[in-house]
Amino acid sequence: MIAPSILSADFANLASELKAIEGSDWVHVDVMDNHFVPNLTLGLPVVQSILKATDIPVDCHLMIENPERWAPGYAEAGAYNVTFHAEATDNPIAVARDIRAAGAKAGLSVKPNTPIEPYLEILREFDTLLVMSVEPGFGGQSFIAHVLDKAKQVRRLVDAGELRLVVEIDGGINMDTIEQAAEAGVDCFVAGSAVYGTADPAATVEALRQKVIAVERSAV
Ligand code: DX5
Ligand code: ZN
Repeated sequence: MIAPSILSADFANLASELKAIEGSDWVHVDVMDNHFVPNLTLGLPVVQSILKATDIPVDCHLMIENPERWAPGYAEAGAYNVTFHAEATDNPIAVARDIRAAGAKAGLSVKPNTPIEPYLEILREFDTLLVMSVEPGFGGQSFIAHVLDKAKQVRRLVDAGELRLVVEIDGGINMDTIEQAAEAGVDCFVAGSAVYGTADPAATVEALRQKVIAVERSAV
């Protein structure tokens, strides 16, 4: 799955920017509060407008403090998947259960230097694991390859039937880096600048998808 991030879109023209990525599997929406990360983007009212403007499933990535307070609202609004950060709460299970009870898939995200081992036990409470491959906060940064070890580790557990999870990666994904992520067993690829920085975003989404398909074919 390819999930373009609208962080790199023109926020004054979101409706047309959403049309420009028709054919995408998810649309990735980065919510930042200027506390958990040193940047501020958008919140629930804008997500509600996005939900009205597109049929693409909305993948909310909450880079915010206090997700227990805010995450369920995004699920109630109709987001398909709501992901919050492991580093932002002492009670990730409760947040995941509240998101699921409000009707969305629940996702857990880990920053590049956050180990995954402490969370393996609770991943059964989640539908998505979002592995950050840049420090959260800004688009256009370089891919950090060592995070792929975490993706591989969780992929093995999924393949062994111990977990059911979408393994998603976010940060620095482009035509040069997507193959190594696909080889690591990632299912869903977020791409912001690599998609919206091109003249034909929908064509770029398709080109990224073809790269992943080629890796999958060569693995058979
Ligand atoms: C960064 C965001 C990403 C961002 C990725 O904190 O979570 O979703 O949009 O941007 P690129 O693909 O440009 O690295
Ligand atoms: Zn993101």
